[in-house]
Amino acid sequence: MLVLSVVTRSAEKTRELGVLFASILRERDVVLLTGSLGAGKTCFVGGVAAGLHVKGHVSSPTFTLLHIHEPARKGLSALNHFDVYRLEGADDFIRHGFDEISYEDGITLIEWGDRVRDALSDDAIELAITFGQNENDRILHFIFPEGREDDVDKFRRLLDGVEGQEP
Ligand SMILES: Nc1ncnc2c1ncn2[C@@H]1O[C@H](COP(=O)(O)OP(=O)(O)O)[C@@H](O)[C@H]1O
Ligand SMILES: [Mg+2]
Repeated sequence: MLVLSVVTRSAEKTRELGVLFASILRERDVVLLTGSLGAGKTCFVGGVAAGLHVKGHVSSPTFTLLHIHEPARKGLSALNHFDVYRLEGADDFIRHGFDEISYEDGITLIEWGDRVRDALSDDAIELAITFGQNENDRILHFIFPEGREDDVDKFRRLLDGVEGQEP
């Protein structure tokens, strides 16, 4: 397990991280996002969507559970954006047939993903967002499974580039 923690001090920065993170994602990747209400999960997904050249606005699929976006990035079939807050758990996720969607083509991001963890494969990437000291501080903990070392390195280099721009 490889953990990478990054602090952001604005929604824009969190979104920017999402854009960078998108560049290491590929077909069939599953990312589960955890963190309480207002942590910035949807904000981050918005950045990922922008990085994948999804057109239009990304909102939380709070009531519909799933939004499927069409990414313009070549070779990528879908961005599946879940919010499973309203589900009872892994069984409920499977009952809806959602586990199959995450095994099919496309990139899958699941807000409140820890609630359905048992329905997901072990090689999901996890992003745990916690609150920092100041109102707009967030700490993003990226937890990568074994085998993603190259992606972690690439992501770290991209992050260094961003941090280098700061005054
Ligand atoms: N550093 C930050 N990162 C992300 N969001 C932030 C940050 N600071 C303040 N915010 C605000 O927190 C809220 C996050 O909302 P949202 O992304 O919908 O959270 P969630 O999906 O986790 O419930 C937004 O209103 C956003 O403007
Ligand atoms: Mg949300």
